[in-house]
Amino acid sequence: MQQSKLITMDEFTIMETRKFPQATGELSSLLRDIGLAGKLVNKQVRKAGLVDIIGEYGATNIQGETQQKLDVFANETLIGILKYSTDCAGIASEENDDHLAFEDSFSANSKYVVLFDPLDGSSNIDVNAPIGTIFSIYRRVSELGKPCTIDDFIQPGNRQMAAGYIIYGSSTMIVYATRLGVNGFTLEPSIGEFCLSHPNIKCPENGKIYSINQGNTSKCSEGMVSYLNYCMEPNKEEGRPFSHRYIGSMVADMHRTLLKGGIFIYPADKSSPKGKLRLQYECNPMAFIIEAAGGKATWGGGNIMDIQPTELHQRTPVFIGSKNMVNKVLEYVGA
Ligand code: AHG
Ligand code: MN
Ligand code: MN
Repeated sequence: MQQSKLITMDEFTIMETRKFPQATGELSSLLRDIGLAGKLVNKQVRKAGLVDIIGEYGATNIQGETQQKLDVFANETLIGILKYSTDCAGIASEENDDHLAFEDSFSANSKYVVLFDPLDGSSNIDVNAPIGTIFSIYRRVSELGKPCTIDDFIQPGNRQMAAGYIIYGSSTMIVYATRLGVNGFTLEPSIGEFCLSHPNIKCPENGKIYSINQGNTSKCSEGMVSYLNYCMEPNKEEGRPFSHRYIGSMVADMHRTLLKGGIFIYPADKSSPKGKLRLQYECNPMAFIIEAAGGKATWGGGNIMDIQPTELHQRTPVFIGSKNMVNKVLEYVGA
């Protein structure tokens, strides 16, 4: 029987790299390391529900060590792998107050830094809903040969070299973008490889789904409330209201938005005047992916990726998804 050719993520990134004669392969090897961390996190995620059932994975193990929470596990796994990667000068994570510069000579000579949200949507772990990991890769601006510095981590999103996410859903996938486009790879568990399943992803220009925590409406601006009313009334495109979907896990809501079209919103409101989501490891990577797929991402007064960050954990409002839906919301909330 003829078998169709499986293309693994490693093969794919190497093929892509060959399009640039000057490329050194360092970015491909970094993506491979992030994929490896994703497989290790996936292994833990898949047994999350067993933690209280099987003694071996109980709250404390036989040595009396406390079972690590998944977001701590994911953070430590990513840091552990990237620290010993030959191509990562340092990291910044949602779970660490400050950036971490790797000080060995390999790392000090590495060109790239990685920012990540190790486990996104952690409130969904207990209810078996999709969760994810989000990452963003920059070329460092500090001097090679020395440890990286904070300046490497507070670059605007438009300087990202690559960005992506891993979704631990009904299947596990890694989706990553470079300036060449966006591609998705599904984990084939029996061989432990991410295989190309969603080549050249494009975000539809129009969508039928809006995704927002609508419970916060009373805290929203008038413009935002008017936009939500527009979503709930029959519109001229469909002759019916848009559908509302909100998982509360940005990776899962964005994965649907990327593939099916729609808009994902986390606005500023009275209790979060700067929005809730983090610029550097949630909104910028998603903006990079969605724009590489033909969509749009704004904070309401300009492109997300044009914001010059001033600190590592800063927040931003975000309106992201199908180009025409983002343009429409700007008619209501645009600054
Ligand atoms: P994290 O689990 O990394 O802290 O992120 C949770 C985020 C994001 O995934 C999601 O879109 C948002 O929080 C949900 O917030 P609300 O519960 O306020 O809607
Ligand atoms: Mn998050
Ligand atoms: Mn998180």
